[in-house]
Amino acid sequence: MKTFRVAALAIGLSGVFLGTALGIEQGTGKEQVIQVTARRFSFTPNEIVVKKGRPVVLEFTSLDFVHGFNVPELKLRADLPPGQVTRVRFTPERVGEYAFVCDNFCGEGHEEMHGRIVVKE
Ligand code: CUA
Repeated sequence: MKTFRVAALAIGLSGVFLGTALGIEQGTGKEQVIQVTARRFSFTPNEIVVKKGRPVVLEFTSLDFVHGFNVPELKLRADLPPGQVTRVRFTPERVGEYAFVCDNFCGEGHEEMHGRIVVKE
C-alpha cells in the first residue's frame, strides 16, 4: 500500500513537471493572481513582475476614484471603479518592460500615477 502511494505520488509529480516543461498550464489554479490597489496617485505595487507564457490575472481595487489602467504596448485597458474588484487577464508573450498609466484624469497627481509590468523568462 505504501509503495502504491509513493508510485501514485511520483506519477502525479511527473505529470506536473511534464506539463510545466511543455508549457501546458490550464485552469484558473495555474494563473498568477496579483492584487493591485489603485488610489490617488499611485498603484501598489507599481512594479508587477510576471513570467513569459504564464497567464496572469490582475485584480484591481480602487480606493477612491474610477482610475484607469492602460498598458498601450500590451493593448490592455480597464476602468477601475471603487467598491469592486476589476480583473484584467492576459498572458505575457514577450520578455520586456511595459509601462502602464492611469488614463482617467484623477487630480493634481494624475501624471505621476503609473508603473510598469516586467515580463521575465
Ligand atoms: Cu488615477 Cu489618473
